[in-house]
Amino acid sequence: MTSQSSQSGQPPLKTIRGSFLDFVDDPFYAPEADSARYIADGLLVLDGGKIKAFGAYADLQSEYGDLPTTVYAERLIMPGFIDTHIHYPQTEMIAAYGEQLLEWLDQYVFPTEEKFQDEAYAQKVAEIFLDQLLSNGTTTALVFAAVFPQSVEAFFEAAERRQLCMIAGKVMMDRNAPDYLCDTAESSYQETKALIQKWHKKGRLRYAVTPRFAITSSNEQLRKAGELLKEFPDVYMHTHISENVNEVAWVKELFPDCEGYLDAYDQAGLVGERSVFAHGVHLTDAEFQRLSEMKSAIAFCPTSNLFLGSGLFSLDQAKSAAHPVKVGLGTDVGAGTSFSLLQTANEAYKVAQLRQQKLSSFQALFLATLGGARALCLEDTLGNFEVGKEADFIVLDLRATPLMAFRNPAAVASSLSDLADRTFSLVMMGDDRAIQSTYILGEIVYQKGKASPPYTATA
Ligand code: GUN
Ligand code: ZN
Repeated sequence: MTSQSSQSGQPPLKTIRGSFLDFVDDPFYAPEADSARYIADGLLVLDGGKIKAFGAYADLQSEYGDLPTTVYAERLIMPGFIDTHIHYPQTEMIAAYGEQLLEWLDQYVFPTEEKFQDEAYAQKVAEIFLDQLLSNGTTTALVFAAVFPQSVEAFFEAAERRQLCMIAGKVMMDRNAPDYLCDTAESSYQETKALIQKWHKKGRLRYAVTPRFAITSSNEQLRKAGELLKEFPDVYMHTHISENVNEVAWVKELFPDCEGYLDAYDQAGLVGERSVFAHGVHLTDAEFQRLSEMKSAIAFCPTSNLFLGSGLFSLDQAKSAAHPVKVGLGTDVGAGTSFSLLQTANEAYKVAQLRQQKLSSFQALFLATLGGARALCLEDTLGNFEVGKEADFIVLDLRATPLMAFRNPAAVASSLSDLADRTFSLVMMGDDRAIQSTYILGEIVYQKGKASPPYTATA
């Protein structure tokens, strides 16, 4: 090849041509015209899994026009979706009937998570789970495993084989749960430490210290989690907060010396820039302010919050100009009812409506991409098509069903406002049927209608 080839031994450069949408700024604060980047005929130049160039085809054609190209006509190409809160062991008990949070945990979740003591079982579910993520266009996720270290091993091994950027951790829980799921403050510390040493920053993998929530962790265990964050300052902290009113009341009883729910985590040193709190439906004004001050993130999980009857998260408060909090979307499967971040954004819109708030399609898609990357401190490598970032992206079909095709007679949007309308219909009506292809590090790993490759280590 010519000078356009990569250095010897590397895969040659290649390009993707089509319509692209990504975000270069936050549309909750900047005008949409300045934050959404739409290129109706664009070119993405890929070099060994990274983005080498990106822009209008007309501008890049002279330099890269001769490279092998995949053309996606009448499709929309976006950065891969980022799910900021999900439980892989709960894949099999999605859609469990009839209960709210605390009873639902006892009745459905805990018995299911016990199965993840068996590593072979965990391996099998990890593959199913990752297939689900990719077929829904999700390329990165912040993931709860189960309390058993082997459940983390199984997950990271599966993610590593697929070269995915995934963040996960062993659940820490030492009280108010069945004995078969409880560790101790000390064992959770030791097991977590060993897992961090083995997996954190191995390739694209990252570790999250994962106390389940304040109800199932003693103060001593929360403090041990805080010690780990001091010892390993670049690992994440991932937990639940203020999801359900009965939960909030119980935390008050369990931590009488704390000012509130967040304070129980704060006093243990768990509130920082790499901390991600799922839900936050019942946070106080002071707690929102503290999260803003500490640059922590909230995972907004609307399908879960509606399914468990938890309440209506205030996105406007989190995204306030005075005390902005980083927010990503979380499916929270298995309390969440879909792996699709499109469906999650759909429900987010309806939650906003019930609160007399608005959520535009660009705001929703920002949360699912660059917003999620920022919530997970991954914006230097993921979230949009900036040159140098990792090439995880998806190809969307806005006419994926007969009704969607009727709603959108012309596939390619002619203007940003036209695109806003079409992507709104995508958010309302789309799901895994709208995901045509998913790329990881510039390689296609999922194509709608085609069987996924056999990733499982043992047949
Ligand atoms: N709070 C503590 N554990 C869980 C869980 O597994 N799911 C949800 N939605 N909330 C929790
Ligand atoms: Zn959860």
